[in-house]
Amino acid sequence: MGKGVIMSKSLAIAIGVLTVSSVFGVVAMLVVYRIQIARNPPQPPPTLQTTTPIPTAPPASLRLPDHLIPESYEVFLQPHLYTELPDNITEQSFVFKGNSTVRLRCIKDSKSIFLHVRGLNVTDVRVTNTDFGKRLSVSHYEIHQNESNFLEIQLEDVLLGNGSRYELFTAFEGELLDDLSGFYVSRYTVKGKDDKDEVRFLATSQMQPTDARQVFPCFDEPALKAVFNITIIHRPETTAMSNTIGVPVITTIDGEEWHVTTFHPIPVMSTYLLAFTVSDFMGKQDSPRSKITTYARGDAVKAGHADYAAQTTKKILEFYETTFGLKYPLDKLDQIAVPDFSAGAMENWGLISYQESGILFEEDTSSNFDKERVATIIAHELAHQWFGNLVTMRWWNDLWLNEGFATYMSYMGVEAADWNLKDLIVLKEIHSAFQVDSLNSSHPLSLPEGEIETYSDIIELFDDITYSKGAAVLRMLSTYIGEEEFMNAIKAYLRKFQYMNPEYKDLWKCLQEETNKDVEAFMSTWTEQMGYPVITITTQTGEISQEQFFLKQTEGHGIPWQVHIIYSKSDSQHVTEHVLKDKGPVLNPKFKVGKDEWILANINCTGFFRVNYDEENWYKLLDQLESNYHVIPVISRGQLIDDAFNLARAGRLNVTIGLSLTKFLKNDTEYIPWESALKNLDYFILMFDRSEVYGPISKYQRQQVESLYKNFETHNINGTVPEKHTDQYNQVNAIKVACSNGLPECLSMATSLFRQYRNNTNPIHPNLRRAIYCSAIAAGDEEDWEFAWEEFQRATVAGEKDKLRYALSCTKEIWLLNRYLQYTLDPTKIKKMDVVSTVNYIAENVAGQPLAWDFVRGQWAYLTQEYGAGIISFNSLLDSVTKRFSTDFELEQLKQLQRELDEKDHEFATRTLEQVIERTEANIEWVTENKQIVFDWFNGELKNY
Ligand SMILES: *[C@@H]1O[C@H](CO)[C@@H](O)[C@H](O)[C@H]1NC(C)=O
Ligand SMILES: *[C@@H]1O[C@H](CO)[C@@H](O)[C@H](O)[C@H]1NC(C)=O
Ligand SMILES: *[C@@H]1O[C@H](CO)[C@@H](O)[C@H](O)[C@H]1NC(C)=O
Ligand SMILES: *[C@@H]1O[C@H](CO)[C@@H](O)[C@H](O)[C@H]1NC(C)=O
Ligand SMILES: *[C@@H]1O[C@H](CO)[C@@H](O)[C@H](O)[C@H]1NC(C)=O
Ligand SMILES: [Zn+2]
Repeated sequence: MGKGVIMSKSLAIAIGVLTVSSVFGVVAMLVVYRIQIARNPPQPPPTLQTTTPIPTAPPASLRLPDHLIPESYEVFLQPHLYTELPDNITEQSFVFKGNSTVRLRCIKDSKSIFLHVRGLNVTDVRVTNTDFGKRLSVSHYEIHQNESNFLEIQLEDVLLGNGSRYELFTAFEGELLDDLSGFYVSRYTVKGKDDKDEVRFLATSQMQPTDARQVFPCFDEPALKAVFNITIIHRPETTAMSNTIGVPVITTIDGEEWHVTTFHPIPVMSTYLLAFTVSDFMGKQDSPRSKITTYARGDAVKAGHADYAAQTTKKILEFYETTFGLKYPLDKLDQIAVPDFSAGAMENWGLISYQESGILFEEDTSSNFDKERVATIIAHELAHQWFGNLVTMRWWNDLWLNEGFATYMSYMGVEAADWNLKDLIVLKEIHSAFQVDSLNSSHPLSLPEGEIETYSDIIELFDDITYSKGAAVLRMLSTYIGEEEFMNAIKAYLRKFQYMNPEYKDLWKCLQEETNKDVEAFMSTWTEQMGYPVITITTQTGEISQEQFFLKQTEGHGIPWQVHIIYSKSDSQHVTEHVLKDKGPVLNPKFKVGKDEWILANINCTGFFRVNYDEENWYKLLDQLESNYHVIPVISRGQLIDDAFNLARAGRLNVTIGLSLTKFLKNDTEYIPWESALKNLDYFILMFDRSEVYGPISKYQRQQVESLYKNFETHNINGTVPEKHTDQYNQVNAIKVACSNGLPECLSMATSLFRQYRNNTNPIHPNLRRAIYCSAIAAGDEEDWEFAWEEFQRATVAGEKDKLRYALSCTKEIWLLNRYLQYTLDPTKIKKMDVVSTVNYIAENVAGQPLAWDFVRGQWAYLTQEYGAGIISFNSLLDSVTKRFSTDFELEQLKQLQRELDEKDHEFATRTLEQVIERTEANIEWVTENKQIVFDWFNGELKNY
């Protein structure tokens, strides 16, 4: 899925708000995972053991038994939905009917068939032996009313395990709900006659991970790939789409006109990649007869909002075809902007779905970051067409093979569309992976197959470990092997496993054969155990050691990582490499430095680890940064800051060293070091913005940001755009920091531009709108808020709507914030898919945080019902409303909630809650230890000024 499965995450990325996202691993694990997943070759040859009794009982696990192999399906679906209600029809119809025939090969004798179905009424079941054309009698069928979602079919006759072929026919009825999963209904409005809003409908789908079974009974596991022949029967004046090209034919059924669209057979693929839509959308192509079409609401396409996606997709697709050495294999590639969509995007083969804000772009109101986001999401989804769709993980435990690769490759893919984001992978993926992977509750990238069974096991894997750590270790491996050799080996891997389901060891084996490096020994230390090491270098002696890094100090049990260290010293210009395999400490003269010399290790953060030095070396690096920071590469400047702050939080380094590393930013205008510092200072702000420590922190920030702000001032006022992409980012940082810390020039700029917007036309450059709207509303009054609310309701472009929706959360007025929270319960005001992020925004505001917490507790029943186990971002809600928690009183409130949920036997959100409690305890401890030191340090810096 798109980076935004976790919708909140992709939003967070787009806007640069940091959510230590909702990741919560499967179990708190201290043990090392040595994974030995049983190898399942495609299918063993049939061996008949006549003595074994023929099983009829349901399997012991939630996994399907392995006696039947689906080879192809023929599926008919008939949604009765009208996209626009005709005048003589009063009621919309959400029913869909259908049937499915699946061809099966039997490899073990059995008298039963198990497959998946959920939420459908199965009205007919028939089984035929196709070798003899003989119908078998079904003695009994039932749908298990539990998490297995099994449709169990018992037969009078035996299915023969000698490779005999069977056909299973099922007929079924279902309903299109607005639950954003399976085959569901989405709505949007158009201006109809007399400029009145009229509702339009579309049927669309989202299967990943396990919702194909809500559309038709199927063998809904990723390794059970099959060919799909799809036919959709739909109302005239609608278009049906699926993964391949469809050909519509007009027909009459029961006196009514219908269109029957038959799609070309979909090549062997997993069920979770199926997609169906029925809509009146319009398409936009980059050129006539192009393979690629972008679909959206007619209004949006006519206004040109799909143009950017249409052009960009082609460039990225062609880049991947060359880079991966395999042509995109399907006959077309459609992308569709779905008005209601829970994931950021979904890579369905040949029919990729997106949230509107993930693909539509309007030149005048969307920012350059919106544009970048569109390119990045497209690049992610297109990478999946190979990593995920063509080559699929065997089971969800290896989800990172899909998501880690898609995330890593997207940074190369966007380059084809002229975005240079390669360095930013460090901020966007690696730093967030560092955060979650330093908690006890993290989990290894690769978990044993047997540990991932239930829906929530699977859903919880769509986290920062899978996406970001996955990308980080691939980047590390690529540096270790050499980028070119790595890509060549990857080509071989894709060729070898196309249309198949490898597991991660197959990848290592393949890379090993291609590169002659012991990839498995290297990588297994990174993927089979959770966490990552901190390398400690003592520069007087050259002593070096590694140890697992935890934010809250715990005994690490990790086996030593193989650490590929790239380092340089101030006295020599060249870069050196070393692989550390031992835990140490070991003495290695290479890491010893002269009296006035410093060492810098893990240059550009290519390795997934932190580095700590003796204080002397830290101080030398500090001096270097303050005298001439250019000597240290920009990524490393950011990395030093991030390492120092986190080492300090873990109690491994004096907190004042971290803080002192922000001093050189007075002169540095680069984005990566600034962003690293701001993210880390955010923690200080969260912990102290309700206390007296906040005064000096705020003054210090105002002091530090002043010259950065001045650097961009003419751009701010004239609405011009800095040329360098990262400068555009840092311009926004400058405004955010300057205005929120009361730099007078910034406040007057923001309020004056906003006033012009209120009185006349909007003069604010789209890049700056989020920051300026927010600053103006924070500084403004009720009328400003009401104005923004009206603008929000009027806005038709998702990007602009999002900016206003965020800005509305910035007010300092408690009653406005409270009313805004109430609005989230009304889907006509705040769309369901936006509720979680809206509440998160409000919770970020120091004035809104207690309100949001009360709100979440007060509306618990409603929210769990609406966002129950199914909607992933509920965890992020709980996570974000409690981020500031750092007092005993708040801890007690959490424990109270935990007790209440325990009493009600709520399985739901328990892990997140544990997580949040762990964090609160750590915060309490940290604040107690550091409050005075931090207060003194900031005060000291003010006096020096
Ligand atoms: C689906 O189409 C393919 C190709 O035409 C065909 O071989 C296969 O038998 C069809 N499957 C079913 C279940 O009809
Ligand atoms: C509604 O009107 C259309 C077009 O005039 C006609 O084809 C259809 O049969 C009518 N449906 C009903 C339920 O009257
Ligand atoms: C399956 O549904 C299609 C479309 O409604 C229909 O034409 C076909 O006869 C059905 N198949 C069976 C075996 O009932
Ligand atoms: C399924 O069957 C039940 C019981 O007959 C009925 O209430 C329900 O409406 C049916 N659902 C669909 C989607 O047909
Ligand atoms: C570090 O990254 C920069 C790009 O930010 C690049 O120019 C430089 O060559 C890299 N240094 C090393 C040692 O790889
Ligand atoms: Zn993805």
